[in-house]
Amino acid sequence: MSSILKEKHIVLGISGGIAAYKAVELLRRLSDGEAQVAVILTRNAQRFITPLTFQALTPYGVYTDLFDSYRPGAMDHIQLAGWADLIVLAPATANLIAKAAHGLADDLISTFLLACPSPKLFCPAMNVRMYENSIVQANINRLKGFGYQVLEPSAGPLACGQTGPGRLPDPEIIIEEVLGLLSPQDLKGEKVLITAGCTWEAIDPVRFVTNPSTGKMGFSLARVAKRRGAQVTLISGPTHLESVPGISTIRVTSALEMEKEVLRAFPASTIVIKAAAVSDYRPQEVTPHKIKKNGQATLHLNLIQNPDILRRLGQKKKNQFLVGFAAETDDLIQNALQKLKEKNLDLIVANPIGKPDAGFGWDTNQVLFLFPDGKTKSLPVMLKDEVAGLIFDSIINQKKKKPKK
Ligand code: C5P
Repeated sequence: MSSILKEKHIVLGISGGIAAYKAVELLRRLSDGEAQVAVILTRNAQRFITPLTFQALTPYGVYTDLFDSYRPGAMDHIQLAGWADLIVLAPATANLIAKAAHGLADDLISTFLLACPSPKLFCPAMNVRMYENSIVQANINRLKGFGYQVLEPSAGPLACGQTGPGRLPDPEIIIEEVLGLLSPQDLKGEKVLITAGCTWEAIDPVRFVTNPSTGKMGFSLARVAKRRGAQVTLISGPTHLESVPGISTIRVTSALEMEKEVLRAFPASTIVIKAAAVSDYRPQEVTPHKIKKNGQATLHLNLIQNPDILRRLGQKKKNQFLVGFAAETDDLIQNALQKLKEKNLDLIVANPIGKPDAGFGWDTNQVLFLFPDGKTKSLPVMLKDEVAGLIFDSIINQKKKKPKK
């Protein structure tokens, strides 16, 4: 979980839809990230889920009534409005959306919304016909016009038996939006291209040459860039990681496919980070049929070199800020420095392989930044999301220093 949530004051507003029970999981995830969450339940929300459930999960208060403030220690709606860094309305019913869009203030949540200037994230969830109703859509557009964030509901089977958009998105999708709202928008205007994961180089229809890269570092970079306002394209080799809404994700299999997609996206990009562990070699021939043992004790594979995509980018680069990764078992600094120079990079992120908590498959990494002017920065073991944040901090700093061509 990201440290962005730590000690942030979040008001979770829950209105009366069947998805109200999902707000429990959302509250838990926000609290896991050490956010301080106060809850407001509308009258109808309490028919789906009781305040007691939330009281057991957060010490920061569960509010149901405009006059709750008469309870000892409770905040009134004005104090709550001053306390909140962010408001999440999940689920947001058609009624709550309509009230917020038109400035009604006839209960605690609607009154609080008018009193609180902090960013607001509405997560509509309702029957598909209601969601698609042009009155609801007009109200949603009105909310967007006021600068509020509105998350698209997920599509799928709904509790009412119909199918279509209207489901409350999974907690991780809502949390991703929350992290964006709490992040500085210092990458706004940047077009970030990231590669992630391994590549598969086919031997025959069922076998391939690969490496253990899972894509976690590249996906972290893509998420962090999106949170900070960038337009992100992620080109990923095979991975079990799911695409993140709002990130244009292109899935490829081999180094040659990755090369084609990267070269296509490169000219329009302003920052390019090649976190993928591309196979340096591929089998010269791909046997069209599955290779049989046929009693042979040994099998020889002829490998030929794959194009070095990053090196080509280094030759082509104009104003792009180019970042490479170097995962090394030996002579980390020397090898990384050589790649920085040979591939014409603006930054190389070197990470030792074989240490616990760092590299392939871990949620954490331990890296060293090396810059063309010889400066280095060594970081302790930290979450890949945090490493990604520091990589972008460094890129922003370096870009400020670099004169534009
Ligand atoms: O030379 P090495 O493979 O260690 O370099 C690592 C860097 O080069 C990574 O950023 C990786 O994505 C990139 N690379 C590439 N194409 C290759 C091999 C590596 O873009 N064929």
